[in-house]
Amino acid sequence: MVRFSTVGAAVLLASSVSAQITKECGDGLGKCPSNKPCCSQYGQCGVGAYCLGGCDPSWSNSLQSCMPVPQCQSKKYTFTKSDDSPIVSNTKFLGDPSNADWVSDGQPLFANNVVYLTMAPDTVGTVLASTRYVWYGKISATMRTSKGQGVVSAFIMMSDVKDEIDYEWVGVDLQTSQTNYYWNGIPDYTHSGNISLAKDTNTYSDWHTYTIDWTPDSITWSVDGQVGRVQKRADTLNKTTGIYEFPQTPSRVQLSLWPGGLASNGKGTIDWAGGLINWDDDEIKKNGYFYAMVRDVAVECYNPPSNSGSGKVSYAYKDLDKVSSSVELSNDRTWLKSFLATGENKDKELPAQQSKATTIVSTDAAGKATTVVSTVAPTDSNIGTVPGLDGAGFDSGDLNNGGTNGGGDGGDGSGGSGTDPTNPTSTGWSQSDKAGGSSDASKILIVGGNLIAMMLIGVWMVAL
Ligand SMILES: *[C@@H]1O[C@H](CO)[C@@H](O)[C@H](O)[C@H]1NC(C)=O
Ligand SMILES: *[C@@H]1O[C@H](CO)[C@@H](O)[C@H](O)[C@H]1NC(C)=O
Repeated sequence: MVRFSTVGAAVLLASSVSAQITKECGDGLGKCPSNKPCCSQYGQCGVGAYCLGGCDPSWSNSLQSCMPVPQCQSKKYTFTKSDDSPIVSNTKFLGDPSNADWVSDGQPLFANNVVYLTMAPDTVGTVLASTRYVWYGKISATMRTSKGQGVVSAFIMMSDVKDEIDYEWVGVDLQTSQTNYYWNGIPDYTHSGNISLAKDTNTYSDWHTYTIDWTPDSITWSVDGQVGRVQKRADTLNKTTGIYEFPQTPSRVQLSLWPGGLASNGKGTIDWAGGLINWDDDEIKKNGYFYAMVRDVAVECYNPPSNSGSGKVSYAYKDLDKVSSSVELSNDRTWLKSFLATGENKDKELPAQQSKATTIVSTDAAGKATTVVSTVAPTDSNIGTVPGLDGAGFDSGDLNNGGTNGGGDGGDGSGGSGTDPTNPTSTGWSQSDKAGGSSDASKILIVGGNLIAMMLIGVWMVAL
């Protein structure tokens, strides 16, 4: 049985180097305050990207705090060129799905017609989340997992009220795909089920296509087209409440590589992940990081529930019952004007250039004025705008956190098949790529909580 907290489930965990982040919103903690109204997927309050994908309406300040999210679009995402299926960092994405198919946290790398989700030493890995949501559909990912104890690869569907459908792979068992589902983030660990591969293949060396076929009536997990598990909605009825505890709210696709085996995680998570991560693992020695590979993701949208409205643009919550009737099809836009905006104030912009307040403080003997330029100090500097980077991203429970950083030399190395296209000699990556990638990432991390302050200072400097 998988022993880790739901939200975590794969979840993605997002991203913060600090493992000591405190959750601010959620069960037992309550809602976010009005000055930072949006409760991120990881339970931190903020503005900007906090109000986009993953924003939990049930713990945000008001029903309007989280932005409506982009509706499903059937598409096969490939990664042959970086612009086939654009991946944009969560520090740059403001909610318009025409600008990006995926939002990243961490260090995705493109090579050999695939995207690598990397996890360099002492980082918390990489997460890709689709910018569009799916409200029932068939979602397939063709991928290869990572390996090594404590290393977890995942392909999941996650809704903003934390309905979740999972595939997860622990790096100590390359024969097994673990499947699971959660409803409303309730940590019931009795729903897992395993799908085994044939003996002559494994999840690390070989490409396999993992499919989640999600309808209002059932979830079917298939590997390479062979049904491995079916969960019927009818079998999820809670007889006490009369509610079907079945995933039923619009969900993002999330692909990730994360360190279940971090010492700061709960023992249950570490044990489940196969033990503590070994940062001296052969994978790290060879490549500079652990990695999982994704070749393509296919999304086929099914019809949303009838009676959910006729809007063509977005999904929006109209109540907090966290069931399918809580969501409506809307024509409201999904994007924010800036990282200071929220669902309540979508068009809030970064502060305009300060008009220089010029004060004459004295005149010299010749009557010439000496002046000082007084500027207004930036405000809002303690409010996070990007979950993960500025501190969010950690589930304080028995979980993991998400990551950042990475980069490095490509390559597969041993264990792979002889025709592995990721042979190190054929990749264009170099240590300098790696250095560039990680230093960049760490710079942002250092800026951390002060990202917004830096932005404001930038504006201020321009103004001068
Ligand atoms: C699934 O496989 C994992 C890893 O091999 C194992 O620890 C777990 O007990 C299995 N779960 C079930 C439900 O069989
Ligand atoms: C049914 O719902 C009640 C009330 O939320 C909950 O306490 C109980 O654990 C649920 N039962 C099952 C079998 O999940």
